[in-house]
Amino acid sequence: MHQPMPESGRPREEVLQELAAFGREDPDYKAGRLWSLVYYLGKEHDAFLAEAYQAYSSANGLNPTAFKSLKRFETEIIAAVAELHHGPADTCGVVTSGGTESCLLAVKTYRDLARARRRVRRPEMVLPASAHVAWFKASEYFGVKVRLLPLTADLEADVSRLPRLINRNTVMVLGSAPGYPHGTIDPIEAMGRIAQERGVPLHVDACVGGFILPFMEQNGEPLPLWDYRVPGVTSISADIHKYGYAAKGASTITYRSLDLLKYQMFVHTDWPGGVFASPALLGTRPGGAYAAAWAAIQHFGKAGYRELAARTSEAVRRLRAGIDAIPELAVLGRPQGPLLAYGSIDKAVNIYAVGDQMDARGWQVNRLQHPDGLHAMVTARHLDVIDQYLADLQEAVATVKANPRLADTGSAATYGLLAHVPLRGMVRQRVLDMFAGMYRAGGGDLDLNADDIGGKLPLAERLARWYVKRKTR
Ligand SMILES: Cc1ncc(COP(=O)(O)O)c(C=O)c1O
Repeated sequence: MHQPMPESGRPREEVLQELAAFGREDPDYKAGRLWSLVYYLGKEHDAFLAEAYQAYSSANGLNPTAFKSLKRFETEIIAAVAELHHGPADTCGVVTSGGTESCLLAVKTYRDLARARRRVRRPEMVLPASAHVAWFKASEYFGVKVRLLPLTADLEADVSRLPRLINRNTVMVLGSAPGYPHGTIDPIEAMGRIAQERGVPLHVDACVGGFILPFMEQNGEPLPLWDYRVPGVTSISADIHKYGYAAKGASTITYRSLDLLKYQMFVHTDWPGGVFASPALLGTRPGGAYAAAWAAIQHFGKAGYRELAARTSEAVRRLRAGIDAIPELAVLGRPQGPLLAYGSIDKAVNIYAVGDQMDARGWQVNRLQHPDGLHAMVTARHLDVIDQYLADLQEAVATVKANPRLADTGSAATYGLLAHVPLRGMVRQRVLDMFAGMYRAGGGDLDLNADDIGGKLPLAERLARWYVKRKTR
């Protein structure tokens, strides 16, 4: 059972020891076994970030005039990002708590801009089908309807369909550099031309790519243009807590000019607490995260990030070559950048079963759907483990091929089923119930380990078990 607040406090040393012990069941990201969520370079860098964070952990960026230190971090971070993304002299922006906050803010900004300038009352936005889920969250939060831009066979946004999706209610168009699912960079130049012709803003979600694509390009890798060099691009989100290797809680949103950023801001003049102005979603803004982000940028500099990008690219190159060398597998689409996904091209090899085999060998890889696949968010750290990963992948494929029934067991069966369940509304309700269950008073199912569909299993698996039970009832 979870501990509520103790009656009397405990010594710091004892608390810290227990706290460290909590991490024992967490993913082994330090050894490069996890292929998402964490961008880890080693103990030394972590300690550096922690020290920078700690120095400002009590400071509050709520009001940019109170802590001049934090405003300075923010200004310098935004200046670095503006330069990195070839922004014009007026480029401005805000440090946020993460990619999701940056994405949410873009939608709020463009909704309000369209409302003020064009009296748009039923806002819509065009999102490629590969857009990160944060954009769908923004749609729901801010009441902006999604018009989905389908993908081509190469899993890129099909720009030929874009003109027909823009209408007078369109408040923004989105492109990703790269998109989370397949690592493809949307055709931003073509999208920018259309957006400009039609007079709608184009936001580029470079939450993943913002701190690595520029350095890959500087290293001489051929990449399409996606930043402010494309005239139609009006804003960019870029996370420092991903390939900027900062502590969690740091992203940026920049705009081509201040007259756009103004629509992001919130001002309330009649609050009994005083006249209030806020640049982003949060109230209290964590000074430690800004300090650590600033420190990471200062520590690596352009040369350091180029070096990290080169190591990442080498890991990606070897990963691709290794996948290409396994006849049953193929990389999905045409990824350009630090991440990729792969699927099976052999009917006898179920890719989710391959995922199970990789799990059994101590790796943690995300599963994709539409199309089915496995995901790899590659970091510089993965270069050290890539050969072992590929050896295990080869073995995993051979095992699945020799035992096709593996597709009907374990999480392969459940993921396969889930990806193809037709009744999405029903699935949504069930996910909501299960997810809410984890937040039940006392910690819910995470701790109880006893519900009839398998306590501690990942959500997807529990969901699938529920579905199977329901179907066979
Ligand atoms: C393309 C893209 N946009 C936005 C986000 C959201 O970022 P965060 O998880 O920091 O909120 C992600 C996260 O992976 C992403 O890949």
